[in-house]
Amino acid sequence: MNANLDLAGAARRAQLDLADAARRAHLDLAGAARRAHLDLAGAARRVGLTLTTAELAGLDDHARLSAIATWRGRMINEHVSARVFASLERQLARAGRPTDARAAARMVGDEHRHAELCAAVVEALGGAPAAELPELPAVPEHADADPLEAALRNVLSISCLSETVAVALIDAERRAAGPPALATLLAQIVADEVQHARSGWRLLEDCAPRLGPDLRARLDDYLVLAFAHLVEHELAHLPARPAPSPAAEAIGVCDGLGARQLFFATVEQIIVPGLQAHGLDAVGAWRAAQRIGAAASSPASAP
Ligand SMILES: [Fe+2]
Ligand SMILES: [Fe+2]
Repeated sequence: MNANLDLAGAARRAQLDLADAARRAHLDLAGAARRAHLDLAGAARRVGLTLTTAELAGLDDHARLSAIATWRGRMINEHVSARVFASLERQLARAGRPTDARAAARMVGDEHRHAELCAAVVEALGGAPAAELPELPAVPEHADADPLEAALRNVLSISCLSETVAVALIDAERRAAGPPALATLLAQIVADEVQHARSGWRLLEDCAPRLGPDLRARLDDYLVLAFAHLVEHELAHLPARPAPSPAAEAIGVCDGLGARQLFFATVEQIIVPGLQAHGLDAVGAWRAAQRIGAAASSPASAP
């Protein structure tokens, strides 16, 4: 990326940032009206997961509450993912990709089922599988792009980035799980997440040879924002603390520092080279996203 391109990219990014800020301002008002209560108690009972007293031995009250909070957070994340794929389904249909749209529709069902499985763990731990949903901004429609480019942006962000990271993190949790029923439940989820990630990589593989240089450059710019958002989202969900007690880790409370390392390794060793292999400047986008993240978290940027 030469200096001129850097400047052009920065200018485009600034425009995108402004457009984003304007959208967020609207969403702040709209989001308040969309907040809702999620209650999966009935679904959790239908899953019917039980964890034996022996399997929960060594789990003190603090660790049990921490595990309940962890699984309730996952329940919410999975529920929110269903909504993301519902939006992607419409976007792929508009982009003339009916087969991919049908695949996205199946993923809506997968994510709802994942939310129910997580709810069952909350219930098995003695918690209530219910929560107030956080404010949910609309999934970006990318009205500034044609339907295929708009869909490609979301496929990159959702499948190639978020779902690929989910595969690595959830598989690590599966390997750390103590009770066999919990390991089986996590194996079911990770098998679906593998398909969710692969669908995006396949679509990119199919489209990449036909992407012109201008579209490729615009996707490179978009990747900066997508990577920055990914880091912000993942670090918000991965606590900056070391491994909890072995009993808590066996029940799904992750080693936050280990999970953060795995996240960065997945981005740098799997996602960036994968995107680069399809002709996108993922190396440059990842570096630019990290500069944005560092600037945002620097003390000098505090109000
Ligand atoms: Fe999921
Ligand atoms: Fe998924």
